[in-house]
Amino acid sequence: MRSRVADEGADTDAVTLMSRAGLEPDPWQKALLTSDWERALLNCARQSGKTTASAALALETALEATDNLVLILAPARRQSKEFLRSVRSLYRDANPDVGLDKQSELRLRLENESRIIALPGKEGTVRGYTADLVIADEAARVPDSAYVATRPMLAVSGGRFVGLSTPAGQRGWFYTAWKDKTQDWERVKVTGRDCPRMTEDFLEQERQEMGDWEFRNEYLCEFQDTTDQLFRTEDIEAALTSGREPLFSEDPSEHLTDREPLFSDE
Ligand SMILES: Nc1ncnc2c1ncn2[C@@H]1O[C@H](COP(=O)(O)OP(=O)(O)OP(=O)(O)O)[C@@H](O)[C@H]1O
Ligand SMILES: [Mg+2]
Repeated sequence: MRSRVADEGADTDAVTLMSRAGLEPDPWQKALLTSDWERALLNCARQSGKTTASAALALETALEATDNLVLILAPARRQSKEFLRSVRSLYRDANPDVGLDKQSELRLRLENESRIIALPGKEGTVRGYTADLVIADEAARVPDSAYVATRPMLAVSGGRFVGLSTPAGQRGWFYTAWKDKTQDWERVKVTGRDCPRMTEDFLEQERQEMGDWEFRNEYLCEFQDTTDQLFRTEDIEAALTSGREPLFSEDPSEHLTDREPLFSDE
């Protein structure tokens, strides 16, 4: 990763903010926070510190200039609120010079007129903003439509995008962006073993108690076939051919089921 040139004398960079809050950044956090990238994917184990590092980026962006806008996307309102809570506690603990103007559960506005706004990841709600930084938390579960809607809002501002998640099967934009190396992303993988706060004993106990599939997903950051999948993804891909017309054109409504919706507000 190329280094970013820090503003001379600035005490609002993300690493300093974490340190002031009593959190010494882990090596991968420090590399992420001091590097020059436009789009980053963090495929990181549970509790490895991906939200904390991204909250520091959010705060840095809000503090470094007036009138900056940071948008937080998450699959559901509860997770958006949770992310903003992390930003708020970092702000409180780092105690930067710029004061807080207004705040609500999903919004934070600083006295320099920069804003951090958290949105549930639904396509309709993300339109109409021009952002300096977009953060997709639990990104593998943020719908493709919400991700796609963020692209134009960064194009004009030249802003940055970071998606952070544990994997959620071999599907969706996060998986595709991670796998497709023709796409230009900074890719950061942090397994449980890379996290200094997780011991081998803890990880072994987790493996035994949660089962192999979940352990590989949550702590080894592996994009695996989903447990309810009938055929392996690699078998499906091997069987696909683009050269033939489909035999039947199907009515998708026939496939609707009465299962729970994947995304809801709470
Ligand atoms: N560099 C650090 N030093 C000390 N503690 C840290 C550091 N980074 C994160 N933590 C702590 O580790 C815990 C988990 O951090 P965080 O919520 O950022 O992880 P996460 O990867 O987003 O977890 P989850 O997968 O559950 O969303 C928090 O208590 C946080 O304060
Ligand atoms: Mg998190």
